[in-house]
Amino acid sequence: MFLNDNIKIFSGSSNPELSSEVCKYLGIPLGGSRIDKFPDGEKVIRIEDDVRGRDCFVIQSTCEPVDIHLMELLIYLDCLRRASAKRITAVIPYFGYARQDRKDEGRVPITAKLVANLITTAGADRVLAIDLHAHQLQGFFDIPVDHLTGELVLGKYFRDKKINNLTVVSPDVGNMKIASRYAAHLGGELAIVHKKRVNSSQVEAKEIIGEVKGRNILMCDDIIATAGTVCTAASLVKERGAQKIFAGATHGVLAPQAYKRLAEAPIDEIVITDTIPLNKEARQKIGKVKVLSVASMLGEAIKRIHRNESVSNLFSNI
Ligand code: R5P
Repeated sequence: MFLNDNIKIFSGSSNPELSSEVCKYLGIPLGGSRIDKFPDGEKVIRIEDDVRGRDCFVIQSTCEPVDIHLMELLIYLDCLRRASAKRITAVIPYFGYARQDRKDEGRVPITAKLVANLITTAGADRVLAIDLHAHQLQGFFDIPVDHLTGELVLGKYFRDKKINNLTVVSPDVGNMKIASRYAAHLGGELAIVHKKRVNSSQVEAKEIIGEVKGRNILMCDDIIATAGTVCTAASLVKERGAQKIFAGATHGVLAPQAYKRLAEAPIDEIVITDTIPLNKEARQKIGKVKVLSVASMLGEAIKRIHRNESVSNLFSNI
């Protein structure tokens, strides 16, 4: 695919493999940059290509170590702005801090808004993100946001699997809309688990609305972090007579306590995407994980943004 020298793609250190796959899709080399560290731990980033008047994209997931990756992204944006890039797009496959998006008790922050402000102030003109946890997070930015969804790749994978007798289960009420889109798309029934969060890593689930007995289950979520949500829901549907259980999520955050939970859960296959790189330990300990790539979806969206073409058309087939 031919794209001219007007477009430059840079990669933070969170997910270099994904960035190079995106560049492969676009048929252009990754922009030259160097990330160094001063002896006191401060990061210094140098852009090695001429970016004056260019359309620049920085790919960085703000995954673990979250603050380091976030700071790197901010420094990249600042660097590009000061180097006179014409337009800067922060490409954030996984946007950390998104779950703190409201004050549901006194004296707590709204980090999603704070991080959106930081990204804008640092110099981003646009944001390209995937499954921002809640659609309304787009409104936390006062710059354009192109919001992609992992449903495009996960949906295709599960459609090709042709799971019969399918019930799509939302592991909590918040995820119901996504689950009902999957159910419509894959031609299955819909069920919902009523989840109660005990603390940040433990959940309880006792009720299911919908039929799961004798059915094959697809459980979908945007994030698997401690895996409390998906594993608790999986145990409940198994207890109620479900057959095979598949779990699909866009972002495999996979905190260490998720490894054992997922390995022991009655889930036959866990499918995530590469918005966050899967580390070796997680792969070995969990075992049944399949990773799908969002590189071509991101590459296509970047191409369309660069050419001022519609990005939403990408989803016309979902
Ligand atoms: C909740 O609102 C999200 O959609 C996920 O269900 C949740 O973040 C998953 O977290 P964990 O894996 O720690 O239960």
